[in-house]
Amino acid sequence: MGVYLLVLCFVFAYLSSVVELLDNGLARRPPMGWMSWGYYMCGVDCRKNPLKCLDEKLILSVADTFYKEGYLEAGFEYIIIDDCWSEKKRDEYGRLVPDSERFPRGMKYIADYIHKLGLKFGMYTNIAKTTCMGYPGSRDYFKRDAKMFAEWDVDYLKVDGCFVEEDYLNTAYIKLGAHLNTTGRPMVYSCSWPYYIEFIHHKQPDYESVSKYCNVWRSYHDVVTSWRAIKTIITHYQNEYEHLYKFHGPGHWNDPDMLQKQVTLWVKPHLPRKGDKYHSVSFALVNLSEEEVTVSFTPGQYGLNSTDRYTVMDIFSQFFIKNITLSETLEVDVPAEDAIIYTTFPL
Ligand SMILES: *[C@@H]1O[C@H](CO)[C@@H](O)[C@H](O)[C@H]1NC(C)=O
Ligand SMILES: *[C@@H]1O[C@H](CO)[C@@H](O)[C@H](O)[C@H]1NC(C)=O
Ligand SMILES: *[C@@H]1O[C@H](CO)[C@@H](O)[C@H](O)[C@H]1NC(C)=O
Ligand SMILES: *[C@@H]1O[C@H](CO)[C@@H](O)[C@H](O)[C@H]1NC(C)=O
Repeated sequence: MGVYLLVLCFVFAYLSSVVELLDNGLARRPPMGWMSWGYYMCGVDCRKNPLKCLDEKLILSVADTFYKEGYLEAGFEYIIIDDCWSEKKRDEYGRLVPDSERFPRGMKYIADYIHKLGLKFGMYTNIAKTTCMGYPGSRDYFKRDAKMFAEWDVDYLKVDGCFVEEDYLNTAYIKLGAHLNTTGRPMVYSCSWPYYIEFIHHKQPDYESVSKYCNVWRSYHDVVTSWRAIKTIITHYQNEYEHLYKFHGPGHWNDPDMLQKQVTLWVKPHLPRKGDKYHSVSFALVNLSEEEVTVSFTPGQYGLNSTDRYTVMDIFSQFFIKNITLSETLEVDVPAEDAIIYTTFPL
């Protein structure tokens, strides 16, 4: 099943106090879940390709699986329908209409089903007249579409950015965001805005603006099901670290950060906290190369500051590693093309 992280979350995430960021109370943690695109893409020909069919049955079965198999418990909560869900034309009142064969009971039915399981529901539109795959897009219909998504009880809206000019991208995302806000329904606003600015229009995205209006933003190419693609994405975020890190935090997210050698060390402070000062901190060691390597680092270099000891655990295996002081060095063997996460808890 095409489960993947919407947003990778190991980031050195101290926010710059000068930046004003979107705060609609949503996406306090990086949203995680499932999106239809990765595998099902524009799966509209269900008779010919029943195994690649984007329809109600698929979405409900993903929701069931998330609920039954522990994905929800692990924090994967959004089930998101990507492009190709609607009829090819709006109805006589100008409304978007779900494809009547593939989504016979409409989107509110799906939202209710998903919500009953404690999961959240996401949908897709494009900022232009048509979607990337040629279905009706939201240009000239922002207010109406925002209201409709709210009426369908959508919790997350991915807004793509195909087929429009740079100037339009820079204003339209702001306008659509305002319409989503006035519906009164909290919806995570996912913008593809910076991706199109950088990779289609070859300009530097204005992340200050993006982070002021969007909860989540795409900065790089679509992930595909290959390790090579994931590696390229990780490398991109390493290279763009300086542009991106200050806009990233609860409510507004881009992807990861920083590095050393062949191995990348991602550092993130988080709860639980000892008193109001000493955070737990996770260290994710990612080896993109093809041989095992041993990495040494001293947690004290990364902003930890309790003078008491810390307990170190391997968070995937749940093994206790050791109790250390901050000046002690940790040595970790990272297998080729693998990741190890060590979490340090202040004692
Ligand atoms: C609308 O914007 C205001 C101001 O940023 C914010 O407090 C509020 O939570 C937003 N409401 C919704 C539904 O997004
Ligand atoms: C330790 O670091 C935290 C987070 O940076 C800070 O708030 C706190 O004041 C520091 N404590 C000491 C004793 O330096
Ligand atoms: C990962 O493996 C490569 C082998 O090509 C090695 O050069 C690199 O140092 C390793 N990095 C880590 C962190 O283990
Ligand atoms: C590590 O510290 C914890 C908490 O103080 C303690 O319970 C445990 O026995 C210690 N383990 C070792 C091996 O020192």
